[in-house]
This record gives sequence, structure tokens and C-alpha cells, in this order.
Amino acid sequence: MYRKEKLLNRRTVVKGFFYGALAGLGAVSSALGPFWILPEAYGNKTGCDGPVPLRLQAAKKGLIYGAETTFREIGDAEFVGAFKRECGILVPGDELKWKALRPTPGSFDFSRADFLARFAKGSNMHFRGHTLVWHEALPWWFGQTVNSGNAERILREHIETVVGHYAGQIHSWDVVNEAIATWEKDSLPNGLRNSPWLKLLGPKYIDIAFRTAADADPEALMALNQNVLEYGSKASEQCRADTLDLLRRLKSSGTPIHALGIQGHIRTDYEHAGRFSPGKFRRFLRDVADLDLKILISELDVVDSGLPRDIALHDRAVAGIYKEFLDVALAEPAVIGVITWGLSDRYSWQRYGPGRDKTTVRPLPLDVDLNRKPAWYAISNAFDNAHKNNF
Ligand code: XIL
Repeated sequence: MYRKEKLLNRRTVVKGFFYGALAGLGAVSSALGPFWILPEAYGNKTGCDGPVPLRLQAAKKGLIYGAETTFREIGDAEFVGAFKRECGILVPGDELKWKALRPTPGSFDFSRADFLARFAKGSNMHFRGHTLVWHEALPWWFGQTVNSGNAERILREHIETVVGHYAGQIHSWDVVNEAIATWEKDSLPNGLRNSPWLKLLGPKYIDIAFRTAADADPEALMALNQNVLEYGSKASEQCRADTLDLLRRLKSSGTPIHALGIQGHIRTDYEHAGRFSPGKFRRFLRDVADLDLKILISELDVVDSGLPRDIALHDRAVAGIYKEFLDVALAEPAVIGVITWGLSDRYSWQRYGPGRDKTTVRPLPLDVDLNRKPAWYAISNAFDNAHKNNF
């Protein structure tokens, strides 16, 4: 319990961008708004020398900073050096998903996830679990094995085994990932995603998952993890409302939920997603905090496919988006930490996205050569301002 108390108390461009048509940065700046307005310094600093690593910068404010990584990436010694320097928490990108852990219906393969858990422990980092229930990354056998008669038993068995395996070693678990539908048309009236688990068990799958997880590890923070919570669009507005409804329902029925994970894959295809809405997002954070829940920014990056190809402009735009988002997020005392979905552009998941030119995949704090980018300085600066801003 002591550990949990400690954790709980821790305060702890547009798609079709007409860049070529715009004459200069001044025009770009006024066309695109506040995220271009950055201290010059962000655009100029590179290299690994100098200021304190992000994990220490965060710790000064009682916050945790870390990143997603994978088994494969930890085989890269140069990357490992940067990861150890910057990160205070590690979350496996894929190794704890069903697809990775469950080669067959009757077996578990913890080898890769255990490697990452040992690495985190040996490097004095927290270890975070992602994710116990998701509509994606299900194993090949799922559809032919799981049915409404055995789904509850199989779900419980999975959670008991996996959470039990890491009990006492985990900072927090994403118990259910993306339970609320986002752009999809097939959500239910309460906004719940019509996932395989919902089809098999109904909405109670969420309660079952949280109860089973909390029983298996009473020390870890148990979180609901959700995307598309930060924009001004109707879809995002709906997502926030549905997420709050679900959180309220879980809290009022005594379900052991302790935190909301806000993914924060910040999109730049504004026509589709809508623009980041500081005011709406700030209010949402307050509403979540009022439910006595902690908040973790759990998968932060900038989906930078819509940004200019010019590297300097691109990097400044990414940095500005981080800064704008984090200044709002870190003004909320219930926010206990920030995790970026990757640390270096060398391994961003966006590299593997369809149609991406790898030279303009630059969404993370470090570039492919592990140099600190404007984004790094923006995050560092946001930690510096944490809990000071009022929106
Ligand atoms: C991503 C991984 O990073 C990729 O390696 C994988 O191919 C697909 O999943 N939201 C989530 C994460 O909750 O699990 C996703 O991770 C990124 C989006």
C-alpha cells in the first residue's frame, strides 16, 4: 500500500499544407497560430551537452518522464545510453499486448517483456504495463477460440496471470485501452467501442478487467487509457463526454480505477481531427481530477505528417505543439507524469506508417542521431513551468 500511496501522492498544420505558397515564416506564423510563436532558442539548440535530462527536469516538479520502447530497441547500445539518461519510466510498445504474450490459447511467453522489466529495474526506472484489454493486437487464435461462453474465464485468466507475473514491479497498468469509440461509426449509445470484448461480454468487461487487475496487484495504479481527448472537434468533444461518463460510472460502482491515461498522439490533419483546444482540454482535466483520479499523459507524440518538409520549420512546429499541449496538461496538479511514445525519431512508430517519407518523421524529443531537438527543449521548458500556469 505504501508504494501506491506514494504513487498517488506524487504530484507527481494542416493537411495539404500550402507551405510552398506562403512567402515566409511571418506569413506561416500568422496563418498557423500560437504554436509557431516560440523563443528562438528552441530552434537553435542541438546536441546532447548542456541541460538536465528530462527525467530530472520532471522530478524537480514531482513528475515522472519516460518513454515507450521495445525489446529490439534495447539491443541498440547507443539508444540505450540516451534512454537511460532521459527516462524515469519505461513502457513496452508491444511486448505486453496479447499478440506478443499469448502464442497459443494455453501458453504465455513473457521472455521479451521480462527482458524489458529487468532492464527498467536495472536502470532504476519505473515499469509501466500496456495493455491488458484492447480491440487490437489480439492473437491469431482469438476469433476461433474465444466465445461468449468462455470469454470471462479467458479474460480473468489472462489478467490474473499477467498482472500477477509483474505484481509489485509495475507503476501502472493500462487495464483497458481505447474503450471509447473515436471516429468509428459502430459505437454504442454510451460511446463504448463495439470491440470484440464488448461483443462477447457487454460493458461489464471493463469492470471485470479492473477488478481482476486490482486483485492481482493491489499496489499498481490501474488506468483507463484513451485517445482523441484533446481537440475542439465534435468527435473529440463526444469522446471526452463519453470518457467522463464511463469514469463516473466506474467510480460510482466502486470499481478500482485510479487513473486516466491520456494518449496524446497529437494530430496535425486538422480538417479531420480538429485543432487542439486548450480551454476544452483544461476543463476536461479538471473534471477528471474532480473524480479523484490521477492523470498520466501516456503516449505523447506529434503525428507530424501534415507539417512542412523543411526540417527547421518542421521541428519548430513539432516543438510548439508539445509546448502548447504540455503547458495546459501540466497546469493540472492531478497530472503525475508524461510518457512520449518513443524517445528518438530513430524508432518512432510513425516510421512504419503508410506513405511516410522517413526524413520527415520527426515527432520525438531526440532525432535519429539521438541529438536533442526543439521538441526536447519544449518539453523541458514545459516541465519548468509545470503547475504554474492557470488556464
Ligand atoms: C503501436 C506500436 O507502437 C506499434 O509498434 C504497433 O505496430 C501498433 O501499436 N495507441 C496505443 C498503442 O495504445 O498501443 C499503439 O502502439 C499506438 C497507438
